[in-house]
Amino acid sequence: MTLAQFSIAQTSLSWSKDPQIEARVEKLLNQMTLAEKVGQMTQFSIGTPTGPGTGRSDYKEMVARGEVGSILNMTGAAQTNAMQKIAVEQTRLHIPLLFGLDIIHGYRTSFPIPLGLSASWDPELIERIARLAAQEGTRAGIRWTFSPMVDIARDARWGRIAEGAGEDPYLGSAIAAAYVRGYQGSSLSNVDSLAACAKHFTGYGAVEGGRDYNTAEIPDRLLRQVYLPPFEAAMDAGAASFMSAFEALNEVPSTENSFTLKTVLRDEWNFRGLVVSDYGAIAELIPQGVALDGAAAARKAALAGVDMDMESNLYRTELAKLVESGALPQSAIDDAVRRILRVKFALGLFDHPYTAENTDDAQPIPASSLELARTAAEQSFVLLKNATVKGSPLLPLNGGIKSVALIGPLADDGAQMVGSWGGKSTAKDVTTLRAALEARLSQHGGRLLYAKGAELTGTSESGFAEAVNAARQADVAILALGEDATWMTGEAASRAHLDLPGNQQQLLEAIVATGKPVVLLVFSGRPLVLKWAAQHVPAMMEVWFPGVQAGPAMASTLFGDVAPSGKLTTSFPRAVGQEPLYYNALNTGRPPEKIDLTRPPTNSDEKYVSRYVDEQNSPLFPFGFGLSYTTFSYSPTTLSTPTASASALNNDSGNIRVSAEVKNIGTRKADEIVQLYIRQRGTSVARPVRELKGFRRITLSPGQSQRVEFTLTGKELRFWNIDMKNLVEPAQVTIWIAPDSTSGTPAELTIR
Ligand code: GLC
Repeated sequence: MTLAQFSIAQTSLSWSKDPQIEARVEKLLNQMTLAEKVGQMTQFSIGTPTGPGTGRSDYKEMVARGEVGSILNMTGAAQTNAMQKIAVEQTRLHIPLLFGLDIIHGYRTSFPIPLGLSASWDPELIERIARLAAQEGTRAGIRWTFSPMVDIARDARWGRIAEGAGEDPYLGSAIAAAYVRGYQGSSLSNVDSLAACAKHFTGYGAVEGGRDYNTAEIPDRLLRQVYLPPFEAAMDAGAASFMSAFEALNEVPSTENSFTLKTVLRDEWNFRGLVVSDYGAIAELIPQGVALDGAAAARKAALAGVDMDMESNLYRTELAKLVESGALPQSAIDDAVRRILRVKFALGLFDHPYTAENTDDAQPIPASSLELARTAAEQSFVLLKNATVKGSPLLPLNGGIKSVALIGPLADDGAQMVGSWGGKSTAKDVTTLRAALEARLSQHGGRLLYAKGAELTGTSESGFAEAVNAARQADVAILALGEDATWMTGEAASRAHLDLPGNQQQLLEAIVATGKPVVLLVFSGRPLVLKWAAQHVPAMMEVWFPGVQAGPAMASTLFGDVAPSGKLTTSFPRAVGQEPLYYNALNTGRPPEKIDLTRPPTNSDEKYVSRYVDEQNSPLFPFGFGLSYTTFSYSPTTLSTPTASASALNNDSGNIRVSAEVKNIGTRKADEIVQLYIRQRGTSVARPVRELKGFRRITLSPGQSQRVEFTLTGKELRFWNIDMKNLVEPAQVTIWIAPDSTSGTPAELTIR
């Protein structure tokens, strides 16, 4: 963390312990009636016609009676001001409303989906994006975003993997903190500050079978080692709020899980912000089997520490009765309202509750925002394969390319490019790949032949002939294939099959069969199974859903104005049967070392090991992997010392400097994301075969080299041991500085 980040983090954390805010909170709390307190704990969704409680016609009346503390999904300064005026002027205590919205990868300017942004491995970039999103969102009357989504996800079947930063807690923690710093800025009280909301607390990414809203079983050590760190990082960066998750964690729904919400969040971490339930989740405690009716559900959620009820309407209808009957202590209400008021005071809502109405969503996106969106998209792309065609790598497309066939259902569909939770950007804001390539080729006397070829789903091959014909006439065929962002990725979008949907695979094979060089661009919100393509297509790039500047970013990358630098933050499987699949897995007692897993076992030595008989264990493309338009060499990893002391490291004294020489041995200047991994053996509990403990983006010109150095301290080396203590232990540590999670020449460290 840089000094500037540290100072912002400290500033951001200061809101939660500001004596002036605390005094104002207590003074107001003491004036409030029980009904007014319950009102603050109630949030309604206005602006979407779904879910219990919406579709009402009496919101204004409820607000005027002080029965609503927060509203989500209402946007536009005029709209929020009108509702705010009712709250401020007509209620007895003039408590302002808090307006929330899911701004998770941009508001007016839609950036790549978060999984794509994570592939940039660039927290500074993500912080800038969050800052811009905050400036845009606050101009629309929003002061609270339900972001960052920091759920670690190891299962590509889960559609919400699209919303997070992938499978690694170290990278996920760095990115979580970056979003919070960006959203909240130098002070929550700034009018362009958005209160962040770390979600979904917790373990939501581990839902069984990758099926959304399903249950999750996570042992305490795994919870603390993998799923909790990004939440703690978001809190340490000053996050004003958390959102509890939908799923039942170890048989206890996260909406009423006092272990996570109280023991961890309040008692251990001393989090002083507010916790909001997920949408209608308090009512879901009934089908989850832990509440027989709404009163029981409301009581359990309030007792566990959910401060605000998003949209179930049960706090509003049940809490006062529960307190009056003695079934719920007044202190549970007071604690919740205290935290809600703390955030509202910290945001300055009592001092400036209204939003300037001089801008609106209709304004065109400024060039500076488009430039940032383009940079973000370019840095999100991951080059998966780039084979040699006619003597040189197919990408970047060189000057000899005069005609390009652009084929596929995602080549010219602007609405798809904004991905799930796309904010206010619409198709008219997007420059598609087709538009960008037409513009570029026409400037250089080239020709674009466009043919959609197939739909995203369905089996019709009526477009195949036109597509094959276009390919035959062109020097190269670019295939824009992938998922339908409107329903196949994001929330409630679990998939049991990870292949290209519909008959896109058949289209791809038909185009490859023409013999023309093919570039496959994969638009997806998750890892897909791309095994056939990896064997038959010379160039492949994962582009996720790249946002409003999708086209220009892909064109500049395809033609080499910029070199791709993205690295995967999720493992791409060979088959869906490998899921959940992640790099930081434990070894087994029967590792299939030195066995050819590309074929079935032929003897007992090959069979009785931890393997599939019909597929390899390894991912098709591993965590941390991504190619460039140049080549980087890595020297062996070196250490400042071959030994270290566990006790010194536990006392935060002593460290180990790790370095390697990275050289650009190719022909063009490019960025490389250098990664630091460790493996600890001889420990009291098994540790993963690799764990990311550092990363750095460097830029090297051809022939240039740079010694990249990291420092390992107790912070990176400690883990939750057999006694559930988070400590450094004596261990044999293997350490790699590498380009991805499967490479590098390691060094050995002995911790005594
Ligand atoms: C949704 C999502 C959550 C989102 C909330 C408000 O169901 O689970 O991530 O913030 O409701 O839209």
